[in-house]
Amino acid sequence: MRTTPTAHPNTELLVYGIREIVDVANKIKGLDPALELTWENIGDPVAKGWSVPQFLKEILTEEIHRADNRSFAYTHSRGNIETRKWAVTYAKQFCPSSTLDYEDILFTNGLGSGIAMLYQMVAPGKRILQPSPTYPTHASFESFCSGNAPIFYKLDPEKGWAPDIADIEAQLQNHPDIVGITVINPNNPTGTIYSQETLEAITRLAEKYNVMIISDEIYFRMVFPGHTHVHMAELAHARVPLIVLRGLSKDIPWPGGRCGWLEFHNTDLDPAFKDYCEAVKKRVLLEVCASTLPQMVIPTVYNHPEFNAWNQQYSTELQTVADSIADTLNQIPELTVNKTLGAFYLMPRFKQGSLNNRQTLPITNPQVKAYIEQAVATPNLADDKRFTYYILANTGIVCVPASDFFSPYPGFRLTTLSRNPEERKKTYERFAEATKAYLGSG
Ligand SMILES: Cc1ncc(COP(=O)(O)O)c(C=O)c1O
Repeated sequence: MRTTPTAHPNTELLVYGIREIVDVANKIKGLDPALELTWENIGDPVAKGWSVPQFLKEILTEEIHRADNRSFAYTHSRGNIETRKWAVTYAKQFCPSSTLDYEDILFTNGLGSGIAMLYQMVAPGKRILQPSPTYPTHASFESFCSGNAPIFYKLDPEKGWAPDIADIEAQLQNHPDIVGITVINPNNPTGTIYSQETLEAITRLAEKYNVMIISDEIYFRMVFPGHTHVHMAELAHARVPLIVLRGLSKDIPWPGGRCGWLEFHNTDLDPAFKDYCEAVKKRVLLEVCASTLPQMVIPTVYNHPEFNAWNQQYSTELQTVADSIADTLNQIPELTVNKTLGAFYLMPRFKQGSLNNRQTLPITNPQVKAYIEQAVATPNLADDKRFTYYILANTGIVCVPASDFFSPYPGFRLTTLSRNPEERKKTYERFAEATKAYLGSG
């Protein structure tokens, strides 16, 4: 019998806690309008009050006033050709050995959309190994497309969240269907940066098992002073099929511009990999093109004489913010707080045995209390999710449970973007007090 559409059977495999908690927070705000919400869940510097550099505004103003109105038109489906040529020059600035050509570059509507296409075009039955914890779009979309739970390798919190190389090899041996390994460096959600030694070990495994690497480097411009980002394209050159993922969202406060790009490296190494890259390129045609305006201006933005100084200042300030939040949280003995080395995230974890499903915090508004009590009664709710719900209802601070990043270690992820020192102090002292009260409550 004909029916209206039913949901895709894999829908439950789509998980994006960073935004799901927003619905919970807005629901609570609706019940208790006096509660002030503090958003520490989303990596959006503009929403956290960081200013958009004047030079970016000037470039955009000039662009929209061009006589030819080019930014109001479609671009080439794979990305504006001049911008793709610029992307090659840009990549070679960091990876001089690369043989990238502009036809190896694909622009998408934000990197999120590029990530979705990459997993969508993998042949049925083949899998891409994912880090745990991870940025959920990767693991969730791979899982959705394959119709199975993600296959993970461990990031080791005792080693600054570095990938566990032995575990990667074990997964490759246990799952002959794995055809690729995803690496996120600098890392979301942990804020860490991988050493050359670690990346070389991953490259060697990819070579040994004949799999590709997907290297998400969207944060590579946000490496704190004293730390170095090693480009996977340099290590994998002429050795391993590689896709590097980049984007505008984090390099400059303009995530709403929705501009990401994929670089297909070493496509001549393996005809199967070449076919796969061609399939992704074909897939993008169906979307007509990615947003034109950011594509038209990014060469001018990155080449602007003020960009590098602005970027360094941004990273330095982000380091100060991350360190100050870590210092406040380090006062809680039940937490282990790693240092943020790049990007704008921190993922403290609870020491074993410190969380349970009896702990609570006082909630004064009776309707909010009833709503939260119902929410935490959900069967199999992770203990760290329960923690974030109570913190939200008690303090108004919105953070994301580590379990929503597929972390086996209970904890929570914060963005380290709270720029104003007084506000930050107030927020995190309140957060620390509430966390201590929660841990001591049951
Ligand atoms: C690791 C990582 N990759 C990709 C993205 C997607 O970026 P966008 O879709 O804004 O380009 C993000 C966003 O937070 C991210 O953290």
